[in-house]
Amino acid sequence: MVSRKKGLLVSIEGIDGSGKSTLAASLVATLSSAGLPVLLTKEPGATQLGTILRALVQKKEMPICSKAEYLLFAADRAQHFEQIIIPALEQGKIIISDRMADSSLVYQGYGRGLDKTMITQVNSWTMNGITPDITIYVKVSAQTAFKRIIQRNAEFTSFEKEQAAFIERLIIGFDELFAARTNTVWCDGEQTPEHISDYAERSIISSWNAL
Ligand code: TMP
Repeated sequence: MVSRKKGLLVSIEGIDGSGKSTLAASLVATLSSAGLPVLLTKEPGATQLGTILRALVQKKEMPICSKAEYLLFAADRAQHFEQIIIPALEQGKIIISDRMADSSLVYQGYGRGLDKTMITQVNSWTMNGITPDITIYVKVSAQTAFKRIIQRNAEFTSFEKEQAAFIERLIIGFDELFAARTNTVWCDGEQTPEHISDYAERSIISSWNAL
């Protein structure tokens, strides 16, 4: 379905095990059944190139330094914007992206200690200066996230194998980053999936109606 409005870019952010992928899928299902032109996408891994980059950073079968790791996410993002995000915005879609640039600021900036100003600049370059209209932040404790990761995984990704201190830095990073923004919807990830989805959906629909 193609809309006459300009598109709406929504990113969903949170630590691994926060429930953001479940939320993204549920939002897409409810928004599309309401007849809205919605597109589900993700970083990393939404394009053919991205699929290869995603496997590289998640499996880490060879040494990858922090700067190289960030640049792999940046390459995924550049391709994602060129191939998927910009065309979908031009077609007037509501784009729901499971992670985006803020994940780099938090994982590679707060988590790995890379220069956040540099990450912000490169992110902006890969995204042609476009930023999400709204970010849904699903906030959970490290303990809740850890329990969910254990329940769902046969094999952990490189990020899920990180120490507790790394996860705590991510939580501090997301909290700090989003406290300074006005377009973030904070969701309590300890609530039921239905409650979180209803809450996020209302924010998206009101932003869409305001376009
Ligand atoms: P996910 O798709 O299951 O969320 O996994 C993606 C992993 O990649 C997750 O552990 C977070 C990490 N990541 C970064 O470290 N930096 C980034 O820029 C992005 C998009 C993801």
